[in-house]
Amino acid sequence: MSVAPPVLVRRLPLALLLEYRRSMLSVIERARDLGDVVTIGLSRRLRPICVFDPDLVEQVLVTRAGRYGKNTPGYERLSDLLGQGLLTSQGALWKRQRRISQPLFKKASIARFGEIMSEEAEASAARWARAAAGGETFDAAFDMGQLALSVVGRALFSSDLRDATERMSEALEDSLTAYVARLTTPLPGFQHLPTRTNRRGAAARRWLRGFVAELVRDRRASGRQPEPPDLLALLTRAGDAEGGISEELLQDECLTMLLAGHETTANALAWSHLLLARNPEARARLEEEVDEVLDPGRAAGVEDLERLPYTWQVLQEAMRLYPPAWVIARSVEEDDELGCYPLRAGEFVLLCQHAIHRHPKLWREPAAFRPERFAPGGERSELPRFAYFPFGGGQRLCLGEAFAKQEAVIALATLARRFRLELLDASEPELVASVTLRPRHGVRARVLPR
Ligand code: HEM
Repeated sequence: MSVAPPVLVRRLPLALLLEYRRSMLSVIERARDLGDVVTIGLSRRLRPICVFDPDLVEQVLVTRAGRYGKNTPGYERLSDLLGQGLLTSQGALWKRQRRISQPLFKKASIARFGEIMSEEAEASAARWARAAAGGETFDAAFDMGQLALSVVGRALFSSDLRDATERMSEALEDSLTAYVARLTTPLPGFQHLPTRTNRRGAAARRWLRGFVAELVRDRRASGRQPEPPDLLALLTRAGDAEGGISEELLQDECLTMLLAGHETTANALAWSHLLLARNPEARARLEEEVDEVLDPGRAAGVEDLERLPYTWQVLQEAMRLYPPAWVIARSVEEDDELGCYPLRAGEFVLLCQHAIHRHPKLWREPAAFRPERFAPGGERSELPRFAYFPFGGGQRLCLGEAFAKQEAVIALATLARRFRLELLDASEPELVASVTLRPRHGVRARVLPR
Protein backbone atom coordinates (compact mmCIF):
# COMPACT_ATOMS: atom_id res chain seq x y z
CA MET A 1 0.00 0.00 0.00
CA SER A 2 1.32 3.49 -0.86
CA VAL A 3 2.09 5.80 2.00
CA ALA A 4 -0.07 8.78 1.12
CA PRO A 5 -2.00 10.23 -1.80
CA PRO A 6 -0.38 12.87 -4.01
CA VAL A 7 -0.68 16.38 -2.61
CA LEU A 8 -1.66 19.52 -4.48
CA VAL A 9 0.41 22.39 -3.01
CA ARG A 10 1.72 25.82 -3.96
CA ARG A 11 5.16 26.99 -2.98
CA LEU A 12 4.07 30.14 -1.16
CA PRO A 13 2.36 29.40 2.16
CA LEU A 14 -1.38 30.11 2.04
CA ALA A 15 -1.31 30.81 -1.73
CA LEU A 16 -3.43 27.74 -2.39
CA LEU A 17 -5.85 28.62 0.39
CA LEU A 18 -6.34 32.09 -1.08
CA GLU A 19 -6.94 30.55 -4.49
CA TYR A 20 -9.38 28.09 -2.92
CA ARG A 21 -11.20 30.98 -1.32
CA ARG A 22 -11.61 32.60 -4.74
CA SER A 23 -12.60 29.38 -6.48
CA MET A 24 -12.91 26.06 -4.69
CA LEU A 25 -14.05 24.50 -7.95
CA SER A 26 -10.95 25.30 -9.97
CA VAL A 27 -8.58 24.11 -7.21
CA ILE A 28 -10.46 20.81 -6.94
CA GLU A 29 -10.43 20.45 -10.71
CA ARG A 30 -6.65 20.88 -10.74
CA ALA A 31 -6.33 18.25 -8.03
CA ARG A 32 -8.27 15.86 -10.28
CA ASP A 33 -5.36 15.86 -12.75
CA LEU A 34 -3.11 14.29 -10.11
CA GLY A 35 -5.04 11.02 -9.58
CA ASP A 36 -8.12 9.33 -8.12
CA VAL A 37 -7.29 10.30 -4.54
CA VAL A 38 -5.53 13.62 -3.95
CA THR A 39 -4.86 15.69 -0.84
CA ILE A 40 -5.26 19.45 -1.21
CA GLY A 41 -2.65 21.06 1.04
CA LEU A 42 -4.51 24.26 1.89
CA SER A 43 -2.86 24.84 5.24
CA ARG A 44 -1.41 22.77 8.05
CA ARG A 45 -4.86 22.22 9.51
CA LEU A 46 -7.02 22.19 6.38
CA ARG A 47 -6.08 19.22 4.16
CA PRO A 48 -9.14 17.74 2.45
CA ILE A 49 -8.63 14.47 0.59
CA CYS A 50 -10.51 14.57 -2.73
CA VAL A 51 -11.89 11.37 -4.21
CA PHE A 52 -12.45 11.29 -7.97
CA ASP A 53 -13.14 7.62 -8.60
CA PRO A 54 -16.83 6.56 -8.63
CA ASP A 55 -16.18 3.19 -6.96
CA LEU A 56 -14.31 4.88 -4.11
CA VAL A 57 -17.19 7.36 -3.74
CA GLU A 58 -19.49 4.37 -3.38
CA GLN A 59 -17.22 2.97 -0.69
CA VAL A 60 -17.48 6.19 1.35
CA LEU A 61 -21.23 6.73 0.90
CA VAL A 62 -22.50 3.16 0.83
CA THR A 63 -20.34 0.10 1.37
CA ARG A 64 -18.28 1.44 4.28
CA ALA A 65 -20.46 4.39 5.21
CA GLY A 66 -20.30 3.36 8.89
CA ARG A 67 -16.68 4.53 9.04
CA TYR A 68 -17.57 8.04 7.93
CA GLY A 69 -19.44 10.93 9.54
CA LYS A 70 -20.33 14.57 9.12
CA ASN A 71 -17.75 16.05 11.53
CA THR A 72 -16.19 18.11 8.76
CA PRO A 73 -15.29 21.80 8.78
CA GLY A 74 -18.05 22.46 6.22
CA TYR A 75 -20.82 20.73 8.18
CA GLU A 76 -19.60 22.30 11.42
CA ARG A 77 -19.87 25.77 9.87
CA LEU A 78 -23.24 24.88 8.36
CA SER A 79 -24.45 23.88 11.83
CA ASP A 80 -23.80 27.47 12.94
CA LEU A 81 -26.82 28.27 10.76
CA LEU A 82 -28.86 25.06 10.71
CA GLY A 83 -28.11 23.67 14.17
CA GLN A 84 -29.04 20.00 14.44
CA GLY A 85 -31.52 19.74 11.55
CA LEU A 86 -31.81 16.61 9.44
CA LEU A 87 -28.96 17.59 7.11
CA THR A 88 -26.39 18.21 9.83
CA SER A 89 -27.44 15.85 12.66
CA GLN A 90 -25.91 12.42 13.15
CA GLY A 91 -26.42 9.14 14.97
CA ALA A 92 -29.60 8.46 16.95
CA LEU A 93 -30.90 12.04 16.60
CA TRP A 94 -30.59 11.86 12.79
CA LYS A 95 -32.39 8.48 12.69
CA ARG A 96 -35.27 9.82 14.73
CA GLN A 97 -35.55 12.98 12.64
CA ARG A 98 -35.47 11.05 9.37
CA ARG A 99 -38.22 8.72 10.63
CA ILE A 100 -40.42 11.68 11.59
CA SER A 101 -40.14 13.49 8.24
CA GLN A 102 -40.18 10.39 6.03
CA PRO A 103 -43.99 10.13 5.59
CA LEU A 104 -44.04 13.44 3.71
CA PHE A 105 -41.66 12.06 1.10
CA LYS A 106 -43.42 8.79 0.36
CA LYS A 107 -44.82 8.33 -3.14
CA ALA A 108 -48.43 9.05 -2.18
CA SER A 109 -47.60 12.29 -0.33
CA ILE A 110 -45.44 13.53 -3.14
CA ALA A 111 -48.17 12.82 -5.68
CA ARG A 112 -50.52 14.82 -3.43
CA PHE A 113 -48.14 17.80 -3.66
CA GLY A 114 -48.51 17.66 -7.46
CA GLU A 115 -51.41 20.08 -7.39
CA ILE A 116 -49.43 22.67 -5.44
CA MET A 117 -46.51 22.25 -7.85
CA SER A 118 -48.76 22.74 -10.89
CA GLU A 119 -50.38 25.83 -9.34
CA GLU A 120 -47.02 27.37 -8.54
CA ALA A 121 -45.74 26.57 -12.06
CA GLU A 122 -48.85 28.36 -13.34
CA ALA A 123 -48.15 31.34 -11.06
CA SER A 124 -44.62 31.46 -12.41
CA ALA A 125 -45.93 31.31 -16.00
CA ALA A 126 -48.14 34.32 -15.19
CA ARG A 127 -45.06 36.25 -14.00
CA TRP A 128 -43.19 35.26 -17.18
CA ALA A 129 -46.17 36.41 -19.27
CA ARG A 130 -46.13 39.81 -17.52
CA ALA A 131 -42.38 40.15 -18.12
CA ALA A 132 -42.89 39.24 -21.79
CA ALA A 133 -45.74 41.73 -22.23
CA GLY A 134 -43.83 44.54 -20.53
CA GLY A 135 -40.66 43.77 -22.51
CA GLU A 136 -38.78 44.04 -19.24
CA THR A 137 -35.60 42.13 -18.45
CA PHE A 138 -36.13 39.38 -16.05
CA ASP A 139 -34.06 37.14 -13.75
CA ALA A 140 -35.26 33.57 -14.28
CA ALA A 141 -33.03 32.37 -11.41
CA PHE A 142 -34.84 34.67 -8.97
CA ASP A 143 -38.18 33.54 -10.34
CA MET A 144 -37.27 29.89 -9.84
CA GLY A 145 -36.35 30.77 -6.24
CA GLN A 146 -39.81 32.23 -5.80
CA LEU A 147 -41.44 29.16 -7.32
CA ALA A 148 -39.45 26.68 -5.21
CA LEU A 149 -39.93 28.63 -1.98
CA SER A 150 -43.67 28.82 -2.59
CA VAL A 151 -43.87 25.07 -3.22
CA VAL A 152 -41.93 24.18 -0.07
CA GLY A 153 -43.88 26.74 1.96
CA ARG A 154 -47.24 25.33 0.92
CA ALA A 155 -46.30 21.62 0.83
CA LEU A 156 -44.32 21.39 4.06
CA PHE A 157 -45.58 24.35 6.11
CA SER A 158 -49.07 25.05 4.69
CA SER A 159 -47.95 28.69 4.38
CA ASP A 160 -47.67 31.21 1.60
CA LEU A 161 -44.03 32.29 1.60
CA ARG A 162 -43.91 33.85 -1.85
CA ASP A 163 -43.49 37.41 -0.61
CA ALA A 164 -40.50 36.42 1.49
CA THR A 165 -38.42 35.43 -1.57
CA GLU A 166 -36.44 38.64 -1.88
CA ARG A 167 -35.45 38.88 1.78
CA MET A 168 -34.84 35.13 1.90
CA SER A 169 -32.48 35.15 -1.06
CA GLU A 170 -30.60 38.15 0.39
CA ALA A 171 -30.30 36.42 3.75
CA LEU A 172 -29.12 33.23 2.08
CA GLU A 173 -26.55 35.09 0.03
CA ASP A 174 -25.17 36.82 3.13
CA SER A 175 -25.09 33.73 5.30
CA LEU A 176 -23.53 31.57 2.59
CA THR A 177 -20.88 34.21 1.83
CA ALA A 178 -19.98 34.28 5.52
CA TYR A 179 -19.94 30.45 5.50
CA VAL A 180 -17.38 30.31 2.66
CA ALA A 181 -15.26 33.03 4.27
CA ARG A 182 -15.13 31.10 7.54
CA LEU A 183 -14.41 27.82 5.83
CA THR A 184 -11.45 29.17 3.93
CA THR A 185 -9.81 31.46 6.43
CA PRO A 186 -6.54 30.44 8.05
CA LEU A 187 -7.30 32.58 11.15
CA PRO A 188 -8.73 30.76 14.16
CA GLY A 189 -11.60 32.69 15.72
CA PHE A 190 -12.21 34.56 12.45
CA GLN A 191 -15.95 34.25 12.83
CA HIS A 192 -15.85 36.53 15.87
CA LEU A 193 -14.11 39.40 14.07
CA PRO A 194 -16.51 42.24 13.17
CA THR A 195 -15.76 42.16 9.42
CA ARG A 196 -18.49 43.28 7.03
CA THR A 197 -19.01 39.71 5.83
CA ASN A 198 -19.31 38.39 9.38
CA ARG A 199 -21.70 41.14 10.46
CA ARG A 200 -23.95 40.59 7.45
CA GLY A 201 -23.74 36.81 7.99
CA ALA A 202 -24.80 37.19 11.62
CA ALA A 203 -27.68 39.52 10.73
CA ALA A 204 -28.86 37.09 8.05
CA ARG A 205 -28.74 34.18 10.50
CA ARG A 206 -30.84 36.18 12.99
CA TRP A 207 -33.36 36.99 10.28
CA LEU A 208 -33.64 33.39 9.04
CA ARG A 209 -34.05 31.97 12.52
CA GLY A 210 -36.57 34.70 13.38
CA PHE A 211 -38.47 33.84 10.23
CA VAL A 212 -38.90 30.17 11.14
CA ALA A 213 -39.59 31.04 14.78
CA GLU A 214 -42.51 33.13 13.53
CA LEU A 215 -43.76 30.30 11.32
CA VAL A 216 -43.85 28.05 14.37
CA ARG A 217 -45.43 30.74 16.58
CA ASP A 218 -48.13 31.50 14.02
CA ARG A 219 -49.02 27.84 13.76
CA ARG A 220 -49.25 27.45 17.53
CA ALA A 221 -51.34 30.58 17.88
CA SER A 222 -53.75 29.49 15.15
CA GLY A 223 -54.17 26.01 16.62
CA ARG A 224 -54.41 24.72 13.05
CA GLN A 225 -53.74 21.00 12.47
CA PRO A 226 -53.63 20.38 8.74
CA GLU A 227 -54.82 16.95 7.59
CA PRO A 228 -52.94 15.09 6.31
CA PRO A 229 -50.26 16.58 8.55
CA ASP A 230 -47.58 18.84 7.10
CA LEU A 231 -43.98 18.93 8.33
CA LEU A 232 -44.70 21.27 11.24
CA ALA A 233 -47.56 19.07 12.41
CA LEU A 234 -45.43 15.91 12.15
CA LEU A 235 -42.62 17.50 14.11
CA THR A 236 -44.77 18.87 16.88
CA ARG A 237 -46.80 15.66 17.18
CA ALA A 238 -43.71 13.48 17.31
CA GLY A 239 -42.29 15.84 19.87
CA ASP A 240 -45.41 15.50 22.02
CA ALA A 241 -45.44 11.71 21.68
CA GLU A 242 -41.76 11.22 22.38
CA GLY A 243 -41.17 13.52 25.30
CA GLY A 244 -41.02 16.87 23.52
CA ILE A 245 -38.90 18.57 20.95
CA SER A 246 -37.06 21.70 22.00
CA GLU A 247 -37.99 25.00 20.39
CA GLU A 248 -34.46 25.23 19.06
CA LEU A 249 -34.52 21.81 17.40
CA LEU A 250 -37.92 22.58 15.90
CA GLN A 251 -36.44 25.71 14.35
CA ASP A 252 -33.36 23.79 13.17
CA GLU A 253 -35.56 21.28 11.38
CA CYS A 254 -37.80 23.88 9.79
CA LEU A 255 -34.91 26.02 8.60
CA THR A 256 -33.10 22.97 7.20
CA MET A 257 -36.12 21.86 5.19
CA LEU A 258 -36.84 25.36 4.00
CA LEU A 259 -33.31 25.80 2.70
CA ALA A 260 -32.52 22.23 1.56
CA GLY A 261 -35.94 22.06 -0.07
CA HIS A 262 -35.84 25.21 -2.15
CA GLU A 263 -32.32 26.50 -2.97
CA THR A 264 -31.27 23.28 -4.72
CA THR A 265 -34.38 22.79 -6.86
CA ALA A 266 -34.38 26.48 -7.77
CA ASN A 267 -30.79 26.18 -8.95
CA ALA A 268 -31.46 23.02 -10.97
CA LEU A 269 -34.24 24.89 -12.78
CA ALA A 270 -32.22 28.08 -13.23
CA TRP A 271 -29.31 26.16 -14.78
CA SER A 272 -31.72 24.27 -17.04
CA HIS A 273 -33.19 27.51 -18.39
CA LEU A 274 -29.73 28.91 -18.95
CA LEU A 275 -28.49 25.80 -20.76
CA LEU A 276 -31.61 25.57 -22.93
CA ALA A 277 -31.20 29.19 -24.00
CA ARG A 278 -27.63 28.38 -25.02
CA ASN A 279 -28.47 25.10 -26.79
CA PRO A 280 -31.21 25.60 -29.40
CA GLU A 281 -31.16 21.96 -30.56
CA ALA A 282 -31.94 20.59 -27.12
CA ARG A 283 -34.54 23.32 -26.68
CA ALA A 284 -36.22 22.31 -29.94
CA ARG A 285 -36.43 18.68 -28.77
CA LEU A 286 -37.87 19.74 -25.45
CA GLU A 287 -40.45 21.94 -27.17
CA GLU A 288 -41.46 19.04 -29.40
CA GLU A 289 -42.07 16.90 -26.33
CA VAL A 290 -44.03 19.47 -24.30
CA ASP A 291 -46.08 20.55 -27.33
CA GLU A 292 -47.20 17.00 -27.81
CA VAL A 293 -48.10 16.40 -24.17
CA LEU A 294 -49.53 19.74 -22.97
CA ASP A 295 -52.13 22.25 -24.12
CA PRO A 296 -50.74 25.76 -23.87
CA GLY A 297 -53.54 26.73 -21.49
CA ARG A 298 -52.72 24.31 -18.70
CA ALA A 299 -49.79 23.58 -16.45
CA ALA A 300 -48.18 20.14 -16.40
CA GLY A 301 -49.37 17.80 -13.66
CA VAL A 302 -48.43 14.51 -12.04
CA GLU A 303 -50.43 12.62 -14.66
CA ASP A 304 -48.09 13.95 -17.40
CA LEU A 305 -44.81 12.95 -15.82
CA GLU A 306 -44.40 9.63 -17.61
CA ARG A 307 -44.84 11.30 -20.95
CA LEU A 308 -42.12 13.89 -20.28
CA PRO A 309 -38.93 11.79 -20.32
CA TYR A 310 -36.86 14.30 -22.26
CA THR A 311 -37.79 17.09 -19.82
CA TRP A 312 -36.28 14.99 -17.05
CA GLN A 313 -33.20 14.24 -19.18
CA VAL A 314 -32.68 18.00 -19.62
CA LEU A 315 -32.80 18.48 -15.86
CA GLN A 316 -30.47 15.55 -15.23
CA GLU A 317 -27.95 16.85 -17.72
CA ALA A 318 -28.17 20.34 -16.18
CA MET A 319 -27.45 18.77 -12.76
CA ARG A 320 -24.50 16.89 -14.28
CA LEU A 321 -22.87 20.10 -15.50
CA TYR A 322 -24.02 22.26 -12.60
CA PRO A 323 -24.89 20.01 -9.65
CA PRO A 324 -26.86 22.23 -7.24
CA ALA A 325 -25.18 20.42 -4.30
CA TRP A 326 -21.71 20.35 -5.82
CA VAL A 327 -19.69 18.59 -3.12
CA ILE A 328 -20.28 16.14 -0.29
CA ALA A 329 -17.89 16.06 2.65
CA ARG A 330 -17.32 13.25 5.13
CA SER A 331 -15.10 12.92 8.18
CA VAL A 332 -13.13 9.71 8.64
CA GLU A 333 -14.34 8.31 11.97
CA GLU A 334 -12.56 4.95 11.73
CA ASP A 335 -9.35 4.14 9.81
CA ASP A 336 -10.02 2.93 6.28
CA GLU A 337 -8.20 2.66 3.01
CA LEU A 338 -9.09 4.34 -0.26
CA GLY A 339 -7.71 2.34 -3.17
CA CYS A 340 -4.06 1.96 -2.26
CA TYR A 341 -3.96 4.76 0.35
CA PRO A 342 -4.55 4.48 4.06
CA LEU A 343 -7.00 6.94 5.65
CA ARG A 344 -6.74 7.93 9.30
CA ALA A 345 -9.56 8.81 11.66
CA GLY A 346 -9.70 12.59 11.98
CA GLU A 347 -9.04 13.27 8.29
CA PHE A 348 -11.81 14.35 5.94
CA VAL A 349 -12.73 13.56 2.36
CA LEU A 350 -14.48 15.56 -0.37
CA LEU A 351 -16.62 13.84 -2.98
CA CYS A 352 -17.02 16.54 -5.59
CA GLN A 353 -19.93 16.00 -7.95
CA HIS A 354 -18.90 18.97 -10.07
CA ALA A 355 -15.47 17.41 -10.78
CA ILE A 356 -16.70 13.80 -11.18
CA HIS A 357 -19.67 14.71 -13.38
CA ARG A 358 -17.17 16.36 -15.76
CA HIS A 359 -14.35 13.84 -15.43
CA PRO A 360 -12.80 13.23 -18.88
CA LYS A 361 -11.97 9.65 -17.92
CA LEU A 362 -15.72 8.99 -17.49
CA TRP A 363 -17.72 11.27 -19.77
CA ARG A 364 -17.36 11.86 -23.52
CA GLU A 365 -16.89 15.58 -24.24
CA PRO A 366 -17.82 16.36 -20.68
CA ALA A 367 -18.43 20.08 -21.20
CA ALA A 368 -21.09 19.52 -23.89
CA PHE A 369 -24.79 19.77 -22.95
CA ARG A 370 -26.38 16.53 -24.18
CA PRO A 371 -29.54 15.45 -22.38
CA GLU A 372 -29.57 12.20 -24.43
CA ARG A 373 -26.79 10.90 -22.19
CA PHE A 374 -29.63 10.10 -19.77
CA ALA A 375 -31.90 8.38 -22.29
CA PRO A 376 -32.46 4.65 -21.72
CA GLY A 377 -29.31 2.86 -22.94
CA GLY A 378 -27.49 6.23 -23.22
CA GLU A 379 -24.00 7.07 -22.03
CA ARG A 380 -25.02 7.32 -18.38
CA SER A 381 -26.21 3.71 -18.33
CA GLU A 382 -22.68 2.47 -19.21
CA LEU A 383 -21.02 4.33 -16.34
CA PRO A 384 -20.61 3.26 -12.71
CA ARG A 385 -23.37 4.21 -10.26
CA PHE A 386 -21.39 7.08 -8.67
CA ALA A 387 -20.19 8.67 -11.91
CA TYR A 388 -23.37 10.74 -11.37
CA PHE A 389 -24.80 11.46 -7.93
CA PRO A 390 -26.50 14.86 -7.70
CA PHE A 391 -28.62 13.64 -4.77
CA GLY A 392 -25.79 11.89 -2.88
CA GLY A 393 -26.19 8.24 -1.95
CA GLY A 394 -26.36 5.63 0.78
CA GLN A 395 -28.30 6.20 3.97
CA ARG A 396 -27.90 9.99 3.75
CA LEU A 397 -29.36 10.11 0.25
CA CYS A 398 -31.39 13.29 -0.31
CA LEU A 399 -34.76 12.90 1.33
CA GLY A 400 -36.35 15.20 -1.23
CA GLU A 401 -35.15 13.52 -4.44
CA ALA A 402 -38.57 12.42 -5.73
CA PHE A 403 -40.13 15.70 -4.55
CA ALA A 404 -37.52 17.71 -6.44
CA LYS A 405 -37.85 15.62 -9.59
CA GLN A 406 -41.60 16.02 -9.72
CA GLU A 407 -41.52 19.73 -9.00
CA ALA A 408 -38.76 20.45 -11.52
CA VAL A 409 -40.33 18.46 -14.37
CA ILE A 410 -43.72 20.12 -13.81
CA ALA A 411 -42.16 23.60 -13.72
CA LEU A 412 -39.84 23.16 -16.69
CA ALA A 413 -42.47 21.56 -18.93
CA THR A 414 -45.07 24.23 -18.07
CA LEU A 415 -42.70 27.11 -18.84
CA ALA A 416 -41.12 25.55 -21.95
CA ARG A 417 -44.61 25.02 -23.41
CA ARG A 418 -45.24 28.76 -23.46
CA PHE A 419 -41.94 30.66 -23.39
CA ARG A 420 -38.36 30.88 -24.54
CA LEU A 421 -35.61 32.88 -22.95
CA GLU A 422 -33.12 35.06 -24.76
CA LEU A 423 -30.11 35.59 -22.52
CA LEU A 424 -28.85 39.15 -22.06
CA ASP A 425 -25.31 37.91 -21.60
CA ALA A 426 -24.12 35.17 -23.92
CA SER A 427 -20.73 34.63 -22.23
CA GLU A 428 -19.86 31.60 -20.07
CA PRO A 429 -21.72 31.90 -16.75
CA GLU A 430 -19.71 32.71 -13.64
CA LEU A 431 -20.30 30.32 -10.78
CA VAL A 432 -20.77 30.85 -7.07
CA ALA A 433 -19.97 27.69 -5.15
CA SER A 434 -20.96 27.81 -1.49
CA VAL A 435 -23.25 25.13 -0.08
CA THR A 436 -24.97 25.19 -3.47
CA LEU A 437 -23.83 26.09 -6.95
CA ARG A 438 -25.55 29.00 -8.64
CA PRO A 439 -24.99 31.45 -11.49
CA ARG A 440 -23.36 34.57 -10.01
CA HIS A 441 -25.45 37.01 -12.03
CA GLY A 442 -28.63 34.96 -12.10
CA VAL A 443 -30.21 34.12 -15.46
CA ARG A 444 -30.98 37.56 -16.87
CA ALA A 445 -33.04 37.30 -20.00
CA ARG A 446 -35.82 38.59 -22.19
CA VAL A 447 -38.91 36.39 -22.08
CA LEU A 448 -40.34 35.56 -25.49
CA PRO A 449 -43.80 34.02 -25.74
CA ARG A 450 -43.81 31.04 -28.13
C1 HEM B 1 -32.48 19.34 -7.22
C2 HEM B 1 -32.77 19.36 -5.96
C3 HEM B 1 -31.94 18.76 -4.86
C4 HEM B 1 -30.64 18.35 -4.85
C5 HEM B 1 -29.64 18.38 -5.99
C6 HEM B 1 -30.36 17.85 -3.52
C7 HEM B 1 -29.15 17.31 -3.12
C8 HEM B 1 -28.92 16.74 -1.89
C9 HEM B 1 -27.71 16.04 -1.51
C10 HEM B 1 -26.49 15.84 -2.39
C11 HEM B 1 -27.87 15.61 -0.23
C12 HEM B 1 -26.88 14.76 0.57
C13 HEM B 1 -25.91 15.56 1.41
C14 HEM B 1 -24.88 14.65 2.09
O1 HEM B 1 -24.89 13.43 1.92
O2 HEM B 1 -24.03 15.19 2.79
C15 HEM B 1 -29.16 16.05 0.21
C16 HEM B 1 -29.69 15.83 1.46
C17 HEM B 1 -30.92 16.26 1.87
N1 HEM B 1 -31.87 16.90 1.10
FE1 HEM B 1 -31.73 17.33 -0.86
N2 HEM B 1 -31.49 17.99 -2.76
C18 HEM B 1 -32.49 18.51 -3.54
C19 HEM B 1 -33.79 18.81 -3.17
C20 HEM B 1 -34.30 18.59 -1.92
C21 HEM B 1 -35.69 18.86 -1.53
C22 HEM B 1 -36.77 19.36 -2.48
C23 HEM B 1 -35.77 18.57 -0.20
C24 HEM B 1 -36.96 18.68 0.72
C25 HEM B 1 -38.12 19.13 0.39
C26 HEM B 1 -34.47 18.11 0.24
C27 HEM B 1 -34.16 17.72 1.51
C28 HEM B 1 -32.97 17.14 1.89
C29 HEM B 1 -32.71 16.66 3.23
C30 HEM B 1 -33.65 16.74 4.42
C31 HEM B 1 -31.42 16.10 3.22
C32 HEM B 1 -30.69 15.44 4.39
C33 HEM B 1 -31.02 13.97 4.38
C34 HEM B 1 -30.30 13.17 5.45
O3 HEM B 1 -29.15 13.44 5.74
O4 HEM B 1 -30.93 12.23 5.95
N3 HEM B 1 -33.61 18.14 -0.83
N4 HEM B 1 -29.80 16.72 -0.81
